Amino acid sequence: MINEKVNKAFNEQIQKEMYSAYLYLSMATQFYADGLEGISQWLRSQALEELTHAMKFFDHITERDGRVELEAIEKPPSEWDSPVSAFKDALKHEEYITGEINNLVDLTEKEKDYASKTLLQWFVDEQVEEEGSVSKVLQELEMVKESPHGLLMVDKELGGRTIAAEQEEEE
Ligand code: FEO
Repeated sequence: MINEKVNKAFNEQIQKEMYSAYLYLSMATQFYADGLEGISQWLRSQALEELTHAMKFFDHITERDGRVELEAIEKPPSEWDSPVSAFKDALKHEEYITGEINNLVDLTEKEKDYASKTLLQWFVDEQVEEEGSVSKVLQELEMVKESPHGLLMVDKELGGRTIAAEQEEEE
């Protein structure tokens, strides 16, 4: 049985991961409308990945006979001045999520909830990847921000991203 405080904190993390998906989807819709379909595709994939993060907590809670209680998801921003400003926000958001995962590690250690150790270690590693991939895109976008041609090249490159969930969708 999962510790009650840990169950509650994991429920809150489900909401944060779902909000992350909302945020990336909101960015995806803007850049699709702006004609940057590759950036939009990258963000759409990121949104799907966030849903899988939420489901990892969901499954962990239910497997341990806990109770998932879904929280309200707030409305994300809907407009960004440029891809650079969106990815700056994305990086800030990922840094915030990293902090929240670290808080969960602290809580589970305090509560001696050893059964969630493997799950949380996965998220600690994943956040290194998340921050790294967002900062890489941000760096590329910064380099081409004065060049429409460069931006189109980056857009094309980012359009190549898919994740396992999407490959299944296509099959
Ligand atoms: Fe699930 Fe991007 O953190």
